[in-house]
Amino acid sequence: MTTPLTVLGLESSCDDTAAAVVRVNGGAQILSNVVLGQEELHRAFGGVVPEIAARAHTEKLDLCVTEALQQAGLGLGDVDAIAVTSGPGLIGGVLAGVMCAKGLAAGSGKPLVGVNHLAGHALTPRLTDGMDYPYLMLLVSGGHCQFLIVRGPDDFSRLGGTIDDAPGEAFDKTARLLGLPQPGGPSVEKEALTGDETRFRFPRPLLDRPGCDLSFSGLKTALLRERDKLIAAQGGLHAQDRADLCAGFQGAVRDVLVTKTQRALDRYLQEAPRVPGLAVAGGVAANAALRGALQAACAEKGVAFVAPPLRLCTDNAAMIAYAGAELFRAGHRSDLTLSARPRWPLDRTAAPLVGSGKKGAKA
Ligand code: KG4
Ligand code: ZN
Repeated sequence: MTTPLTVLGLESSCDDTAAAVVRVNGGAQILSNVVLGQEELHRAFGGVVPEIAARAHTEKLDLCVTEALQQAGLGLGDVDAIAVTSGPGLIGGVLAGVMCAKGLAAGSGKPLVGVNHLAGHALTPRLTDGMDYPYLMLLVSGGHCQFLIVRGPDDFSRLGGTIDDAPGEAFDKTARLLGLPQPGGPSVEKEALTGDETRFRFPRPLLDRPGCDLSFSGLKTALLRERDKLIAAQGGLHAQDRADLCAGFQGAVRDVLVTKTQRALDRYLQEAPRVPGLAVAGGVAANAALRGALQAACAEKGVAFVAPPLRLCTDNAAMIAYAGAELFRAGHRSDLTLSARPRWPLDRTAAPLVGSGKKGAKA
């Protein structure tokens, strides 16, 4: 029997200020999960402004921590460790979180654990579904896109990732090009429901190349071209044009992600996992068409498919607290020299990804 572990987690690497308390005791229990979004602060700028994000994190982090502890019915003295996202992400925001966590650790004497934000996402299926190692993880959001074999809290192999845009970014840009509201993913998905996917044949980038790397930036250029052709020919876009463009775009993203997932699954299955599983995380995993197609690809290969609830798929601090708990159990400790890292690849042996998302350069 292991002793229960209660961890306070802090997250501030992009545009969500978050704090949460998680207890790990055999299974894991989320005692509180507070997320303060900054959407309205950045709306006028059409994207996340790093300086505005950092200032808002600095103002809101302590409120989030107080709220998270209160909702958990605990004081700082009751937690066993403080976990904080120390990278990768927008450096000002990461710094705000790290400084706040250091202050809390120094003041309370509690141990500090620096957590990789991507590890937080990657370990979420263990928090929500108790998934066994090793499993395959597909991270698809506005800032990330990569396939990882997850073997432990600090043991990851990256099989591939985007070489340019993240898929969420491509959804957001598509929506912008068509005058649809942000965030683009849900708007494009809604339009696509009434669209004809076969009217526009968009490219399926990198499918002709072996491996699991992906590319999405050419897709939005292709969409822009089709949009401009329609505008030149008929003076504007009809509602059906918009729906067909969205359906064609979404179909292309789905096909690319599914084919690359099949390849990643083949690689992963070579390890002969005892209970094979694929987990998805990130905002794009909310897309029903994509989810359905991934689920079918898994069923074909006898692999379990896990998609954590959306509020735990997107940025939150419960995943940081949980990853912190696993790392703490494995002996990881940080001290007051913990630094904020804008880049921090999970797989130390993989070549760096060159793409840049809304979070800037990716790990
Ligand atoms: O994980 P997330 O909340 O934030 C980070 O990027 O870290 O993901 C947000 C992204 C946005 O780009 C949004 O457009 C996309 O996820 N998204 C979707 C859907 N819902 C959100 N993309 C496609 N279909 C959706 N239903
Ligand atoms: Zn994230």
